[in-house]
Amino acid sequence: MLVLGIESSCDDTSVALVNCSESGHVVIAEKTASQIDIHKKYGGVVPEIAGRMHAEKIVPLIEAVLDGQPKPDAIAVTAGPGLVTGLIVGVEAAKTLSFAWSIPLVAVNHLSGHIHSVELSPQTTIQFPALALIVSGGHTELVHLKSHTDFKILGSTKDDAAGECFDKVAKLLGLPYPGGPQISKLASEGRTDAIDFPRPMLREDNFDFSFAGLKTSALYWMRDNKLAAVSINASALPAGVFGQSKDITVSDFCASFEQAIVEVLVAKTLRAAEEIKPATLILGGGVAANKKLRTTLSEAVAAMLPETKMLIPSLPYCMDNGAMIAVAGFYQALQKKFSSWENLSVNPVWHVDEPNILTR
Ligand code: KG4
Ligand code: ZN
Repeated sequence: MLVLGIESSCDDTSVALVNCSESGHVVIAEKTASQIDIHKKYGGVVPEIAGRMHAEKIVPLIEAVLDGQPKPDAIAVTAGPGLVTGLIVGVEAAKTLSFAWSIPLVAVNHLSGHIHSVELSPQTTIQFPALALIVSGGHTELVHLKSHTDFKILGSTKDDAAGECFDKVAKLLGLPYPGGPQISKLASEGRTDAIDFPRPMLREDNFDFSFAGLKTSALYWMRDNKLAAVSINASALPAGVFGQSKDITVSDFCASFEQAIVEVLVAKTLRAAEEIKPATLILGGGVAANKKLRTTLSEAVAAMLPETKMLIPSLPYCMDNGAMIAVAGFYQALQKKFSSWENLSVNPVWHVDEPNILTR
């Protein structure tokens, strides 16, 4: 089945044409327009600007992807969660094509997309039951999957998402948006035990997360160590110079902070895995690009859950992309879970285990 996937929930406009089948998926064509350079100036995504940029890019991207290709059998579009200004652009474009070409329309949850991104690697299919840790700029969720379309959220963040915490602490350090990759880069040269940051909710008997307190601890550490100005170019500082702390470097700070986040994510995921006993454990979302998280979780799964296969998307498919939306939409299309173009509307707060999304 040829599926056109459209993604516009945050700061990437992405369109892909994917040849999907139950034995695997082949990306025929894909194009993504990133808005990072624009939002960088403001230190984060500005919803109004994001909407306008998506509107500017969506038609040229669809044209480029479909150039010389046959019409798709289905159109899959992210209908939530995300920024309403962006979601509307993708959904309206998909509805227009669905009406004009009489092609079925599938409304895809963005997190289902991140989960299915692992199937974009060759010869990779999700086996069930599966457990997914989805970590992105907007979400931190543990999801139990009984099938490609049957989800149950086991736990989620009570405040900041993991990626948001990376981004906010990076901003305090004066690093450009998005800060996750910057912190990760600095962390690779630092000591993970230099600062004893808290491990929020690690001991609580649930699968929920909380990262706002960790962000505040990072801020207080900077204050207490009299970091002269938070708006510094941290990467330009020589080793050993960080506020008044003589022996803790910016890299040490980043490594210790990253370690705290990774430890909590890995511990809670393993605890959920002990309960679910998943055939497949999936790591997805933008923060899945984090090297420390990828290796720590993979090694722990290999050591403690030998029956479980760990699946992590290749780096380009950790980020938001249209191909993952096409794959998630394919499984809904197989079950004829279509939306009508007359009724489909966006749902910025759509939970991945909710059966239906808002229609109007
Ligand atoms: O999934 P995504 O592309 O967009 C959302 O749906 O939010 O995730 C973006 C997030 C940002 O917070 C970014 O800082 C984070 O993923 N991220 C990372 C890394 N690469 C991207 N966080 C930590 N380490 C990384 N290497
Ligand atoms: Zn995402």
